[in-house]
Amino acid sequence: MNQFQQGVTHWTNFINGQWVDSEHLIKVENPATGELVGTIACATPEQVNQAVSAARQCHDWRLMASMLPYKRMQLLHSIAAEIRSLAKRGGELLCLENGKPLSQAEGEFEEAARYFEYYAGMADKIEGQSIPLGDGLVDFTEYEPFGVSAQIIPWNFPVSLVARSLAPALAAGNCVVIKSPELTPLAVALLAEAMVNAKVPAGAVNILCGYGHDTGAALVAHGDIDQIVFTGSVATGQSIMNAAIEHVVPCVMELGGKSAGVVFADANLDQVIASAEAGNLFNSGQVCSAMSRLIVHEDIYEEVKQRLISCFSTKSVGSGMGEADVTPILTKVQLDKIEAMCLRAQDQGANCLLGGTALPRAGYFMPPTIIEAEANTEIAQQEVFGPVLVLMKFNSEQEAYDIANGTEFGLVAGVFTQDLSLALRTSRALVAGQVFVNEWFAGGISTPFGGVGKSGFGREKGQEALYNYVRTKNIAIRLTP
Ligand code: NAI
Ligand code: MG
Repeated sequence: MNQFQQGVTHWTNFINGQWVDSEHLIKVENPATGELVGTIACATPEQVNQAVSAARQCHDWRLMASMLPYKRMQLLHSIAAEIRSLAKRGGELLCLENGKPLSQAEGEFEEAARYFEYYAGMADKIEGQSIPLGDGLVDFTEYEPFGVSAQIIPWNFPVSLVARSLAPALAAGNCVVIKSPELTPLAVALLAEAMVNAKVPAGAVNILCGYGHDTGAALVAHGDIDQIVFTGSVATGQSIMNAAIEHVVPCVMELGGKSAGVVFADANLDQVIASAEAGNLFNSGQVCSAMSRLIVHEDIYEEVKQRLISCFSTKSVGSGMGEADVTPILTKVQLDKIEAMCLRAQDQGANCLLGGTALPRAGYFMPPTIIEAEANTEIAQQEVFGPVLVLMKFNSEQEAYDIANGTEFGLVAGVFTQDLSLALRTSRALVAGQVFVNEWFAGGISTPFGGVGKSGFGREKGQEALYNYVRTKNIAIRLTP
């Protein structure tokens, strides 16, 4: 619960409908200033057990699973309304703990509300099939909820990513244990208020905070969970999949990316520059589907390069409260990692055109950075998770595909051309779960999203994602002649 202790806000875990404190605290700091924003109780292993037991009991009592579908729809609409009413308070909290612009922090609550509305609309439309087996049999399928869904949330969009997995899980009748990100847990804790006010059954939604290596690891290794949803780094995803092997628990893995835009010679350069700005600088590049590489035809390469430099160099860098274009990187560790990657790139022969070093001021600021690099170097192969755009040149269509597809990742991709056939051919050739043509980040809640290769598997968002949260049961009935 939100209480003030020595001037800072303190939050607790939310288990079985109750606020539960712990002796161990996690301190949450403001990345724009380094100041303490608040503290939160770190869930103990015993509290992980309590949360899983509460979800299990709620499922065994079938409080969500047997709720009439239209009642589940109404419950999700109530949650949406409650989340929307938290936008001002929650937006401020999220802006302070995460550093993103206040308007975007408030926008996460709006987006979260819309996830609940979208999946509310599906709650009473989860329909099976009837399968013909001849006159003597009736055969049909039903979708049943898994039971207990464990959801591990990252820090870049904590509120909207909770909603992305929680809303379809509840719509399908599951009970959920969420592990919030230890770096930005406060706005997620506030979501528990929405659950209480919307009268979500106790145990249907539990929210734990804690570190990945203990609280997160204890949750995903728990013998009584039925499904895992994870968004975050490849290494953590691999460790979670290893834990899931023990009890044979299905996973949805939304891992990182190194997504590329391919710019053909006939592209509309206004669209290219606007897309690179949004794609690379949104959330300071701390986005799994960021435009991380731009692969440009040699005929227009110099022009694109100059226009990118002039666009990126005019962006303001500052606090989210001040609505700067580029806001802080979440932690010193992340900032150091980004800067080190930029420096190593130059050691490997890359040409830094803009930015490249952290700003010498309080807080964790990385300026917009543009680097020309070879396709096989670290900066062009590995996720940076910062405002760093890698620029590369191509000559033939095949060369563009080879560079674009030449990483271990495949989350999203982009094509820029006025030629529809070329756009479609390229969209099909690019190895990615989603392709944008002449823009970046099109779509949203209703468009399926997910990766290929080390970007993961399973699709979030859209109608398709609901089926992550159900399993199919086939029932065959022999009729008496
Ligand atoms: P991470 O993948 O370690 O953390 C994501 C979540 O997983 C957090 O809630 C964390 O507590 C939890 N976690 C960590 N270890 C766990 C374990 N063994 N078992 C269960 N849960 C565990 O990401 P981190 O360390 O914050 O960032 C490192 C890099 O990961 C970033 O530089 C970025 O490249 C990538 N990343 C990608 C994200 C995406 O949206 N795809 C989001 C966050 C990070
Ligand atoms: Mg980690």
